[in-house]
Amino acid sequence: MKLAQLIAQTGEHEATIQVLCHLLEAKRTNVFLIKDISEPIAKQAIKIIEQYKKGTPLAYLLGSTYFYNRKFIVTPSVLVPRHDTEILVELAEKKIIADSLIGNENSPYRILDLCCGSGIIGISLAYLCDWLHQQNHVLRYEITAVDYSADALAVAAQNASLHHADINLIYSDLLTDVHGKFDLIVCNPPYVRTTDIGVEDPWVLQEPHMALDGGIDGLFFYRRILSTARPHLSTYGMIMFEIGYDQAAAVEKIALESGYSSVKAYKDLANRDRVVTIRV
Ligand SMILES: C[S@@+](CC[C@H](N)C(=O)[O-])C[C@H]1O[C@@H](n2cnc3c(N)ncnc32)[C@H](O)[C@@H]1O
Repeated sequence: MKLAQLIAQTGEHEATIQVLCHLLEAKRTNVFLIKDISEPIAKQAIKIIEQYKKGTPLAYLLGSTYFYNRKFIVTPSVLVPRHDTEILVELAEKKIIADSLIGNENSPYRILDLCCGSGIIGISLAYLCDWLHQQNHVLRYEITAVDYSADALAVAAQNASLHHADINLIYSDLLTDVHGKFDLIVCNPPYVRTTDIGVEDPWVLQEPHMALDGGIDGLFFYRRILSTARPHLSTYGMIMFEIGYDQAAAVEKIALESGYSSVKAYKDLANRDRVVTIRV
């Protein structure tokens, strides 16, 4: 069967490409070069896409997805990684690189991935830290990842092992069981307003509720984290939050009222507010 015929049959262009990449273990560009898709593969793809059309996220059906060009294990215990979160990682990388230039040889550079889910943020940053370590920019670093879901932490552990990332995993209600100071706290907390969950995107309803629900106004976690994070930040430490497109002003207000300074919002590729950085 030709690719165009399969897409016509499933009625789903992007999902069909992704499923074929997975089933054939092929790169995206190579999928377009395939002259003939075998019948068993076409049947398998059609079956998966039928389940997807009924509302199961593709990443759960395939057991994995790509984030920042790397493959991560994904199960229904974790949020499906979003491309929107890549801007958070990019900004975190810039901060780590800048800090590495004035690095402190006496203590490790400490990063906290708070609300880590599948571990995509901390693990992506571990690649950079490993590279910087090899370049002798950062002598030592420590990455800690925290979640309040034991099942999510199990997925994060699998991903850390898959990517050979040396990460401490902590089961904790936000910062309750986290000790010490960090140079960077990166956090993609649940930030969807309770009543908005699944309104625009029904696939979201299959994701863990606790990964999405940010309370009545979506700001519950920003308030909680900002009320307890100060003692966990080093002198030049920074908190970097992913935010909803309409939450920058509200998160800035919470940060300033909680006594932080230097609050800055950053936009994503769609020109919508996506990240807020906050200093002590
Ligand atoms: C929006 S998801 C982010 C997951 C991952 N960092 C990502 O970007 O794909 C939020 C995560 O926060 C976790 N979480 C919810 N309540 C928490 C709490 N009280 N303490 C720590 N983690 C919590 C959820 O289990 C979920 O994994």
